[in-house]
Amino acid sequence: MTEPADAKAVRAAETAVAAEAPDGAGASIRAEHLVQRFGSGRGAVLAVDDVSFELDREPARIVSLVGQSGSGKSTIARQVLGLQRPTSGAVTYGGKDVLRLNRKQRSEFRRNVQPVFQDPYAIFNPFYRVDRVFWTAVRKLTDLPNKRAADEAIRDSLRAVKLQPESVLGRYPHQLSGGQRQRIMLARIHLLRPQFVIADEPTSMLDAQTRRGFLDILQDFRVRYGITTLFITHDLSSVHYLGGDIMVINKGRIVEQGAVAEVMAAPSHDYTRLLLASVPAPDPDQRWTERIDIGQIR
Ligand SMILES: Nc1ncnc2c1ncn2[C@@H]1O[C@H](COP(=O)(O)OP(=O)(O)O)[C@@H](O)[C@H]1O
Ligand SMILES: [Mg+2]
Repeated sequence: MTEPADAKAVRAAETAVAAEAPDGAGASIRAEHLVQRFGSGRGAVLAVDDVSFELDREPARIVSLVGQSGSGKSTIARQVLGLQRPTSGAVTYGGKDVLRLNRKQRSEFRRNVQPVFQDPYAIFNPFYRVDRVFWTAVRKLTDLPNKRAADEAIRDSLRAVKLQPESVLGRYPHQLSGGQRQRIMLARIHLLRPQFVIADEPTSMLDAQTRRGFLDILQDFRVRYGITTLFITHDLSSVHYLGGDIMVINKGRIVEQGAVAEVMAAPSHDYTRLLLASVPAPDPDQRWTERIDIGQIR
């Protein structure tokens, strides 16, 4: 289950030196005709097939990218984060190709576009206390003036995601639950206040209740701090709960997009209908006791 690539991604997000206050307040992320081909000849896989979309922040929104396993979601996340060079097409941030940013722009991008992954355990170094996640972020990505201010900010961020600072600080990753580890990643987001969060299946290892708490925090970040999230999932109940916008992906192509309420009420594409048909009739009491998992649809 562990994806060392995730740890690498978070580290990459921290290699930037602390930037000046970002001037890209209105910066948006644009995916333009993204294509990703892996391998060649008979074994070639077309993982992403001409995908375009825009993530903006006025107003901040939650955009869910939904599709079954293998449909190209994680590849798109890596392209957006600048960790995967597309075969063709480009991702731009504030109008500039994320793979061609100068030092200052890259630093701003790393600070303002933050990843959250499925398995936070892969991000933590098992030999270090979880505090290190915060201190690394503080040192590389914030301009908090001193240790005391940083400590206060860390504690504030933990409380903002409903973790008691005393119950997690000083602990090792294995001493925390999966839900606590994932909340720590959210506390890190709270501390950094990025413009965008790219969340690749962040809730798929959480139980129903913990998952809902996680989604509530993403929503809170949107409302309170204007953070736009690309929420990648194969769990339609999460998408329904979050609302906002949806993009449905099938075999590397976005086949439908729009407001969640509208797409779910009147899907225009066969594949979307198929996905929705797998969702049991809405029952507010049942919604979170059972996963609506579309991983099996062919
Ligand atoms: N580094 C890679 N090398 C070769 N094939 C890959 C690589 N990464 C992903 N793929 C293939 O690309 C397709 C899309 O994968 P992925 O983006 O991980 O889908 P998802 O996240 O929707 O499950 C799959 O067929 C997968 O096997
Ligand atoms: Mg994936």
